[in-house]
Amino acid sequence: MLESYREEIIPEKWYNIIPDLPEPLPPPLDRSKGRSSIDLLNDIVPKEILKQEFSFSRYVDIPDEVREQYIQIGRPTPLVRARNLEKRLDYRGKIFFKFEGATVTGSHKINTAIPQAYYAAQEGSSGTVTETGAGQWGTATALASSLYSLPCTVFMVRISYQQKPGRKVIMNTYGADVIPSPSDMTGSGLKFFKENTNHPGSLGIAISEAVEYAMKKNLKYMIGSVLNSAITHQSIIGLETIKQLELEGEKADSLIGCVGGGSNFSGFVFPFLNDHEDMDIIASTAEEVPKFTRGEYKYDYIDSAGILPQLRMFSLGADFVPPKIYSGGLRYHGASPSLSLLVRNGRIKAEDVSQNEVIDALKIFAGTQGIIAAPESGHAIASALRYIKANKNEKKTVVVNVSGHGLLDLGIFEGKRE
Ligand SMILES: Cc1ncc(COP(=O)(O)O)c(C=O)c1O
Repeated sequence: MLESYREEIIPEKWYNIIPDLPEPLPPPLDRSKGRSSIDLLNDIVPKEILKQEFSFSRYVDIPDEVREQYIQIGRPTPLVRARNLEKRLDYRGKIFFKFEGATVTGSHKINTAIPQAYYAAQEGSSGTVTETGAGQWGTATALASSLYSLPCTVFMVRISYQQKPGRKVIMNTYGADVIPSPSDMTGSGLKFFKENTNHPGSLGIAISEAVEYAMKKNLKYMIGSVLNSAITHQSIIGLETIKQLELEGEKADSLIGCVGGGSNFSGFVFPFLNDHEDMDIIASTAEEVPKFTRGEYKYDYIDSAGILPQLRMFSLGADFVPPKIYSGGLRYHGASPSLSLLVRNGRIKAEDVSQNEVIDALKIFAGTQGIIAAPESGHAIASALRYIKANKNEKKTVVVNVSGHGLLDLGIFEGKRE
């Protein structure tokens, strides 16, 4: 196992699935009445990111400096054989988990925050801005911006801002300004703020605020998920896993992960797709946000104010207000276009799990492997437990992506809903 922790495990190129999709990806759609929303991206996103967003190259070079930062923040992350869990479940096959919670910010989000901040700094940007729900993405953005000495502003969904003060402290410690959203600092926020100064907010509103603020202050907007460039960066998860399995002499039969906007799941799964045709692949979502099972495959807005382009994806509607659940990272209304396309054509199966099932799964995982996984990752673990139960008599090798740790989310075990 030691061998698979070597720095050489970290690939030199990211993988971009676009040329390998079974059909062309429907392009983003500009529905803006005034200025083109696609043009807008040109101003607020680093040029290199935009190039990657629309790239048809299968591989994208990871700059040496980014690769070095990956090492600094804890990559490669461990791939662990979950022997205790296998024993507890009396499973005759093998269970592995890739642990993205081992990065210094505690989740996979840092994998894309670093290159985005790097390109922003290279292009002479004066700072970064983004939104965050539960706080994982904001935390990653805050650290990545600090690594490149970029001032950083984070619009944090107000309900999370109030209920997860620890996250705010961490972002502040990394040097970021954190603003509860909706705020009175942008037009998109003010609309809701005027109605109710204690408005709980939503990810859709916070995205609109961050984008508007980027335009107003000439900052670079950091993309947390959904868009293709972020998914390309996250391919580091799957590429490392493939190498680590090879070193173990193993081959995956099944891949399981959780889906918010789709970045950790796609980053984990996409690099496997070409060479591993017979695998079972399961995308796990929250019962309260059933984008694949109850959503529609259609063009819909990325953000609730409709500032950004529309994407063809599974969506519950850009104005969907998710019920309060602890897994803040899974409350997004849609899922990335490439992942949506593969779910629609049946290559990837999707299923919803209940919060109770998630809590049970998190407890079993904690009690066997010792890891308090993030509530979002608990969905992947719950789906894995279901899968193993259904395939009890087969000796499959199941690989689960555990996207983050849950050490700042302990309220879920006390019965809190958020
Ligand atoms: C730990 C963790 N897992 C999963 C997600 C879901 O996002 P995505 O589907 O983009 O990976 C989040 C989002 O905040 C998260 O923090």
